[in-house]
Amino acid sequence: MRHLRVPRRWHIPLGLLGAFALVFVAGCSGPYPQSTLNPRGDFALLVDSLFMKTVYLAGIVFVLVEGALLIALFKFRGKPSDGDPEQIHGSTVVEIIWTIIPAVVLAVVAVPTVRAIWSTAAIPATSPDGQPPLKVEVIGHQWFWEFRYPELGITTSNELHVPVNRTIDLRMKSGDVIHSFWVPQFAGKRDIFPNRETRLWFTANVTGEFPGACAEFCGTEHGRMDFYLMVDSVDQFKAWMARRQADSTMMYTGAPKVAADSVPLASMDPKVAQGKQLFTAKTCTVCHSISSMNPLKGQIGPNLAGIGTRKMIGAGWLPNTDENLREWIQHTQKVKPDVLMKGLPDISDDEATAIIAYLRTLH
Ligand code: CUA
Repeated sequence: MRHLRVPRRWHIPLGLLGAFALVFVAGCSGPYPQSTLNPRGDFALLVDSLFMKTVYLAGIVFVLVEGALLIALFKFRGKPSDGDPEQIHGSTVVEIIWTIIPAVVLAVVAVPTVRAIWSTAAIPATSPDGQPPLKVEVIGHQWFWEFRYPELGITTSNELHVPVNRTIDLRMKSGDVIHSFWVPQFAGKRDIFPNRETRLWFTANVTGEFPGACAEFCGTEHGRMDFYLMVDSVDQFKAWMARRQADSTMMYTGAPKVAADSVPLASMDPKVAQGKQLFTAKTCTVCHSISSMNPLKGQIGPNLAGIGTRKMIGAGWLPNTDENLREWIQHTQKVKPDVLMKGLPDISDDEATAIIAYLRTLH
């Protein structure tokens, strides 16, 4: 077979082209590409409108400056018959002009900028739906997200459910190092610190599933500290809230609500019953709560309330399939090295199957 040889002089242009293509392809996936240029909420629209004003203004400056440069290049091009050009040393007039013009441009840009800073800093008193904003506490961990709804008594992780058209009032802090909360379509980025609360708000004007991420390097698994923002219809959100609040009857060692969990072990599907016992026997409960309403127990790892039907596992990183769940349970350190989940008792294939069967009943 003949090998395709790329001439050396093409290496750099082709490399640049590849890099560009990668950036574009990475930015385009799903119905809502993860891009700040695709705003779907009021906060993001404010920022986007400022951005576009700046782009247009910069475009005008670009055309004028580059136009003047081209005119100078072509009109005043030297000819062989020309002698030495006139020898000058600076020009006070020109320097004053090119200091004043950028100062004026910056002053013009400052007007909408300062306006946008004020309007994004002020958390609206009422949502578009007439209700007060919904408070959500965000806690960044190495490497997952904890979300608490103090008014609803709910704690969850890695999947932030919000109702459409309701302003969300985020109060954010970190359990360890500095992270940064970012859902490009709605708001952000805003850094999250230990021992200091930062605030952010947004209102989603469309339902859907939107990827979010940690946007501040926070350790080896920073790249796998993602989450999903689920913008629910009002009814969907109520149903989700009711499911989470039903967790209140569920203690992490016993007696819970749904399907498998409200039934005595003896009358459960044997595989599920075995999984439920293993979940305690294999020390999962030391770090994980399976109840939204019981956040003080097992809060070292992500809260697993509703894990059976979540979209992703491992902090927005792997689709929530049985195969991925199995790989996670049996070989966590291979899937996401350095997470705290290590030194567990060995879990056989059969035991993993049982644990998965049990987790699937949590919804
Ligand atoms: Cu958390 Cu990067």
